[in-house]
Formats: sequence, C-alpha cells, structure tokens
Amino acid sequence: MKTQVAIIGAGPAGLLLAQLLTRSGIDSIVIENRSREYIENRIRAGVIEAGTVDILREAGVAEGALRDGIVHEGTALRFEGRTHRLDLVDLVGRGITIYPQHKLVGDLVAARLEAGHPILFETPVVELGDIASDEPTVTIERGGARETITCRFIVGADGFHGPSRQALPPEALTVWERDYPYKWLALMVETPPPSHELIYAAHARGFTLMSMRSPSVSRIYVQVPMEVDAEGWSDDQVWSELDLRLRDGEPVPLREGAITQRSTIHLRSFVAAPMRHGNLFLAGDAAHIVPPTGAKGLNLAAADVAVLGDALKRYFRHGDPSGVDDYSDKCLSRVWQVQRFSSWITHALHVSNDPFDQALNLASLRHIVESRHAALSFAENYTGLPLN
Ligand code: FAD
Ligand code: DHB
Repeated sequence: MKTQVAIIGAGPAGLLLAQLLTRSGIDSIVIENRSREYIENRIRAGVIEAGTVDILREAGVAEGALRDGIVHEGTALRFEGRTHRLDLVDLVGRGITIYPQHKLVGDLVAARLEAGHPILFETPVVELGDIASDEPTVTIERGGARETITCRFIVGADGFHGPSRQALPPEALTVWERDYPYKWLALMVETPPPSHELIYAAHARGFTLMSMRSPSVSRIYVQVPMEVDAEGWSDDQVWSELDLRLRDGEPVPLREGAITQRSTIHLRSFVAAPMRHGNLFLAGDAAHIVPPTGAKGLNLAAADVAVLGDALKRYFRHGDPSGVDDYSDKCLSRVWQVQRFSSWITHALHVSNDPFDQALNLASLRHIVESRHAALSFAENYTGLPLN
C-alpha cells in the first residue's frame, strides 16, 4: 500500500488530521488497532474549547457538536463551602462546549467512511521504518500477516502508549515528566447535574468535579486515595463522600442515582520534544499528557493537528516546507502554556500535605474570584489560548 500520509491511531488527533487532509486533497490511511465499536464507546474527555469547535468547523465535522453540544457561558469554582461562578463570556467573550469525546470520534469516523476513505480497524502498527528517509514505512499486522505501507510522512497519533514515540532514537528525544500524588475516580451517573454548568470543588477531604453528559446524566470525578482502584469504593461510600464534600456552607443539590461506569485516572504531565523527527510527526497524547483538571488533553490534540494539517497542505500543495519545519516549535510553545495552566490549577484545587502549599492553593483560588485580572487570566486559559 502507498499513501501520502500514514496516520497511526484513530483517536481525535488522527481522525481529525485525516479529515483536514482530505479537505485539502491530501491522501491518507488511518491505522487503528482497536475496533470501530471500541473507539466509539471509549469514554474520555467532555470539554471542547471554542477554538476546537472552529477547527471542527473547518474540517466539516462540527455538526454533531453544534447540534448536541451543551454550551456553557460560565463555570464555577467551589471552596470553603461557597460556589463562585465565573462568567467566561463576560470575561473573554467565549465559553466552552460539553460534547463527549467518543461522540466526536463517532462523527469523525462516519465522515471519513462516508467519503470513502480508509480506516484500517483492528490493525496494529508493529513497526515504523526509515523515518529519516523520504519514503518512511509503517508495518501493520492483518489477519496474521504483515504488510507494509509506504508514504511521504508518518503521523504518530497513537496516544501515550503507541509505538510512534518509541520509534525515535532515544538520544533524539527530551522528555519532561511529573506524576502528581492525586488520583480520580471517574463516574458516569444517572442523575441530573446539580448545576447547569460545571463545578470544580476543592475540599479538605479531596477534589470533586461535577460535569455532565446530558440533562439526566452526570459525569463526576472524585479524588480518591492513591490505593483505591475503580471498584475500591462501594456506591454507598461514593455517595457519603460526595455528601461530605458538597454539603457544607452553600450545599450543592446532588441527588443519588445509579453509577453506570467507573474508571480511575492518574494525574500526570508529560512532554516529549521535538514533535518531529525526520519524516515522523508526533501529535496529541503521543507527544504530551496533561492532568485532566484543566480539560485540555483533547483540545491540545486538536490544536496540534490544526497546525500539522496546515503545514502539510502548504507542503503538498505549494512545495513549501516551512510549516512542517516549524511544526514542533509552534506546537510546543503552546503545549507548555497549557502545561503551566493545567499544573497550576491542578495544584490549586487539590489538597496539599504541606500546610504552606495548601495555604497558597487557597490564596490562588481566592485571587481568581476576588480579582477580575486573575479571573480573566483563568478564563483566557480555561476557554483555550489562541492557536497562534
Ligand atoms: P488517543 O485518543 O489515545 O488515540 C490514540 C489511538 O491510537 C487509540 O485509538 C489507540 O487505540 C491507537 N493506537 C495505539 N497503539 C496503536 C498501534 N500500535 N497501532 C494502531 N493504533 C494504535 N482529557 C480531558 O480533557 N478530560 C478528561 O476527562 C479526560 N479523561 C480521560 C480519561 C482517560 C482514561 C484517558 C486515557 C484520557 C483522558 N483524557 C481526558 C485525555 C484525552 O482523552 C486525550 O488527551 C485524547 O484522547 C488525546 O487524543 P489522541 O488522539 O492524541 O490519543
Ligand atoms: C470533564 C473532564 C474534565 O477533566 C474537566 O476538567 C471538565 C469536564 C468531562 O469529562 O466532562
């Protein structure tokens, strides 16, 4: 098989890039080791920045998000028993959209297949070859046999655990990592969201995030001790803990409901640079991970491929290599801004064992709700920094 761009991974990064390339008349093959059903039901992120909606629009795949997405003009920070609403639209002229990542993935898969372009499902990439040459290769495994795809560029959009980053010579890569001493239990719950907007709640017992998927389904993240796994707390334990964290001061009116899905998330930051080596590009989680507190993982993946899609268009249409040459630097400068925000808000909202740090955390939160300048800075980052 031969194509212009071989894209490894049918997550948001890979699928959105494929769509942007198709719109520019560039041929690509998307290779995904999971099944279509699996990726269309994999529950992950929920917040889409306005800038990401713009990228979806440009790619011709915004219809689902615009029709079914829930637009929020504000968000709330809760601490010391009080809930403080931040009016994002008033502060920075834009809000956020709640649209589940797996639905977006479904929209992207449908758009690609309807247009007659390939996604090779249940096809693991087992090797990347000749990445320094102008004809790099991707070796896939199908039906027990190995096949090779030849292309001009490979895009590793295969998430944190995929093979692309590993294909770089170790000396070519610099890695920055931070593990946070925090863990979340992520729950899907059949209960109406207690507020029409999100609530980020800091409490001495731990952090809680009240999000939603529909008027009758809440998405709730509860900080748990590091040793607690997905089934480690009974439903009763979850509800009594939520009650303790949300009832003091101005209580959050949360009703109990059936918990239909559970998973845990470790909080960590990771950056690998550069995001290009030879003719292999890394995009999305393959190159960087942010702690989910700032709701940035999916949005960063979209920002990467917007830059890459534009760069590849200039390369293939006009023979202009400047975009592909700038890709890594351009993305990384924004990636570090997003790391900065995600790390800072993660610390501010979680309880530190160090009393001095904990006092600083509360001071940070108070600053956001007491100073319009601080609120503006929060809103500017939370709703998404500009691409350029
Ligand atoms: P992915 O979505 O990981 O896609 C990579 C794809 O590559 C996958 O489909 C994978 O199957 C495929 N792949 C891997 N190896 C191979 C191979 N060898 N061959 C072929 N294909 C391969 N972000 C938030 O903002 N808020 C959240 O609440 C949130 N929750 C999350 C919960 C979990 C459990 C996880 C893992 C992530 C969460 N994130 C969240 C982060 C967000 O979902 C990611 O940042 C986003 O999915 C990144 O998209 P991506 O396309 O780069 O990678
Ligand atoms: C969701 C996840 C987040 O990490 C966040 O900050 C806000 C919302 C969500 O899944 O709905």
